[in-house]
Amino acid sequence: MSTRWIHRYAQRTQRMTSSAIRELLKLTEKPDIISFAGGLPGPELFPVEELREAAETVLEQKGRKALQYSTTEGYPPLREMIVRHMARYGIVVDIDNVLITSGSQQALDLIGKVLINPGDKVLTENPTYLGALQAFTMYSADYVTVPLDDDGLVVEKLEDGLRSGPKFMYLLPNFQNPSGVTLSLERRHEIIKLSDHYGIPIIEDDPYGQLRYEGEHIKSLVVLDAECVQCQHEGKYTGNVIYLSTFSKTLAPGLRLGWIVAPKEVINRLVQAKQGTDLHSSTFDQMLAYEVGRGGFLDRHVHRIREVYGQRRTIMIKALEQAFPDPSTGVRWTRPQGGLFLWLTLPEHMNAADVLMEAIREKVAFVPGAPFFPGGGGHNTIRLNFSNANEQQIVEGIARLGRVVTRALAAQPVSA
Ligand SMILES: Cc1ncc(COP(=O)(O)O)c(C=O)c1O
Repeated sequence: MSTRWIHRYAQRTQRMTSSAIRELLKLTEKPDIISFAGGLPGPELFPVEELREAAETVLEQKGRKALQYSTTEGYPPLREMIVRHMARYGIVVDIDNVLITSGSQQALDLIGKVLINPGDKVLTENPTYLGALQAFTMYSADYVTVPLDDDGLVVEKLEDGLRSGPKFMYLLPNFQNPSGVTLSLERRHEIIKLSDHYGIPIIEDDPYGQLRYEGEHIKSLVVLDAECVQCQHEGKYTGNVIYLSTFSKTLAPGLRLGWIVAPKEVINRLVQAKQGTDLHSSTFDQMLAYEVGRGGFLDRHVHRIREVYGQRRTIMIKALEQAFPDPSTGVRWTRPQGGLFLWLTLPEHMNAADVLMEAIREKVAFVPGAPFFPGGGGHNTIRLNFSNANEQQIVEGIARLGRVVTRALAAQPVSA
């Protein structure tokens, strides 16, 4: 029956792949498996009670409005709240620069829809967020990639990429997904200068900026761009950086609420694109997010999330130190200052997908890193999520994984 559709699929779907890894990861949803695979927040932190109260208020006071169609740009009080929130981080824009999206995943899709012609190059970090690759690849993007080290994107390698004329750079400066690394302030300044020099704009994706567990907040690219004296910017939003963020990690991903900050004329295009996609994000969810957030609750809540995730990160690092082969074997991991992920590198000769098969037998799961590398490589890398499992599960899961990696190393010593 279904074969009749095969010849009708659009060309752009041909690059969609069904991955063997995705099939394997379906196994990780079984309850006896400890999974470090997803990018999921800890559900016990969802503010269910506060959202219940907010839902009652919204339905009692504005029920008919909450259940009605609404404007594509989003619920104005929520957009104003976002404007105030961002101003505290130095991002000074007005409500016309803000579009509410159904998660920042939709923001990525809309950006692809509005900006990418088939064959256009997008410059990304290597590795980068898989969901962005899925969104951009659907619009037939090609990729130019720049490697990462412990301080984020390696700026010395950026110019070659910019000379090849990408449409835009897609960058994740804070606690990058998947690697967990943070772009240093010095490099952020360099990137802004190069972006200005080559005239290549930036998409800054920042879902994790507020989830910092140690160290000082580093100004975002959108702020540094406004402040760039050499570029003769005058402290105002220039529109050179489109900034994305989300309520998924600070409130609840099931609400599917994110936002885009962009110049007004770009917002107008994005609005048209969004109309074709879903008309608008859920009116009720937007009113709910506003109601729960308006009295300063979100600040207290983010404080609590930072405490819990920070502790889970520390426990995972300690568990790795105890259960894993020592670094002289070539097994290394990052020490992220925030976010949800830790990044593990195995010796070159090992393959993380093989390790995953063994790990699933031991009832522990992770995501192999290779699919995050649009520029190729990363077969020996692993992403570990530390926000979703509790402390006991982290210790037990890392112990299991430690046994798997130790066995795999013994079976395949470097000289083999
Ligand atoms: C870097 C990055 N961008 C975007 C998203 C999408 O998030 P959401 O659509 O839930 O806002 C994620 C989710 O994990 C992410 O890690």
